[in-house]
Amino acid sequence: MSKTAILEIDGKKYEFPIVEGTENELAIDIKSLRGDTNGITTLDPGYKNTGSCESAITFLNGEEGILRYRGYAIEELAEKADFLEVAYLLIFGELPTKTQLEKFHNDIKAQSHVDEDVKKIIDGFPKSAHPMGVLSSLTSALVAFNPSSVNVDSEEEMYNAIVRILAKFPVLTAWAYRKRVGLPLDYGDDNLGYVENFLKMMFKKPSGEYNSNKVVVESLDKLLILHADHEQNCSTSTVRIVGSSHAGLFVSISAGIAALWGPLHGGANQAVIEMLEAIKEDGGDSKKFMAKAKDKDDPFRLMGFGHRVYKNFDPRAKIIKRSADNVLDALGIDDPVLDIAKGLEREALEDSYFVDRKLYPNVDFYSGIIYRALGIPVEMFTPMFALGRLPGWIAQWREMRLRKEPIGRPRQVYIGESLRSFKDISKR
Ligand code: SDX
Repeated sequence: MSKTAILEIDGKKYEFPIVEGTENELAIDIKSLRGDTNGITTLDPGYKNTGSCESAITFLNGEEGILRYRGYAIEELAEKADFLEVAYLLIFGELPTKTQLEKFHNDIKAQSHVDEDVKKIIDGFPKSAHPMGVLSSLTSALVAFNPSSVNVDSEEEMYNAIVRILAKFPVLTAWAYRKRVGLPLDYGDDNLGYVENFLKMMFKKPSGEYNSNKVVVESLDKLLILHADHEQNCSTSTVRIVGSSHAGLFVSISAGIAALWGPLHGGANQAVIEMLEAIKEDGGDSKKFMAKAKDKDDPFRLMGFGHRVYKNFDPRAKIIKRSADNVLDALGIDDPVLDIAKGLEREALEDSYFVDRKLYPNVDFYSGIIYRALGIPVEMFTPMFALGRLPGWIAQWREMRLRKEPIGRPRQVYIGESLRSFKDISKR
């Protein structure tokens, strides 16, 4: 017997079907609401209670701290898979065979060049430009050099656009960094793995060989897996709604990068390190910052804490926290900021303000400590998040297009002026 929801307005009852997800989540299907009720809609700022789509890509349970990509637990994928495998899984729905993965990687390598004229665009940016702004612009600019990536109706055309952006985005990310530090915009080595090649593109010095470090490669690979998708978060919803107008994949991703930049979203990983450094500079007394975070009159928030969905520990934060200890030990790094972060976490988890609001460390709280240990500068932390999230954005965009979802166009409740007549300027 399928469940339904009854809505009563002014004595009249309206019945709506309830849809049930694979993991028994329930949602009221209100597709017919406005038509059935002659114009009544819902109001839900920030879409805290609203599902935008049905999706088979990622499942998360915020109350229990569960995260799965295509049914696989994040803990298992982080331990046993590599980033390109997870990218394939998210986009195409299954873990690849060895042959499929090799073909996928070869197709990406075949597209790993970026038109030399893109360097002229990069030349136009000041060195001080934030890499997220550079990346959003360059990703959009890529369309001009890959026009076939725009009108992708067939799965083959979609595949070609997908391997192009997976190939070129790491190059653009490395170039955005190299531009800031005045290094030549160079390539890595297609004989290397996807993540190892990216690190070489980032850090290879013009005069010397780049010797990659296994610990660095493996920990960045794991971080990228942990960031790869997260259902309908702000930037993914942005990618979906831009793509729903049938704008191409590259510009949809460009819009997602812009959304991720915000300090309440992916920009938090940079803000966390800046906050931890401020606490260190201030003598390490986190109590002052805790008080600021709890003060309603102070806009300061404890960055890296809280989450729209997780009202329990963010499972990614747990993995990253463990990994931070391992990476710093392996690299022989003693970063006092890690101890400050752990102290802050301990204090917050004993403080009723945070406990009552179910504010736990999220994915951004410890990730910056590892990025820093890997030699990645703070302004590149959010671009790392974008590099990790790229397969998730692609997967969600592809699912939206294959399911032929309608163009996204929310309604509103108008609270402005009622009809009034124009007044000549002489009378205003
Ligand atoms: C990501 O959605 C995703 O999946 C995102 C992400 C992904 O993988 O894509 O997981 C990545 O964006 C992680 C979140 C990174 N952002 C931060 O770390 C910034 C700090 N956190 C917050 O700004 C906040 O927690 C949000 C934005 C993450 C969530 O905000 P919500 O769900 O809109 O909750 P809210 O703002 O309504 O807060 C509820 C209460 C409020 O207090 P009251 O009005 O009830 O008294 O909790 C308070 C808030 O003031 N609060 C905080 C806080 N976060 C929430 N107070 C102090 N410090 C914080 N960090």
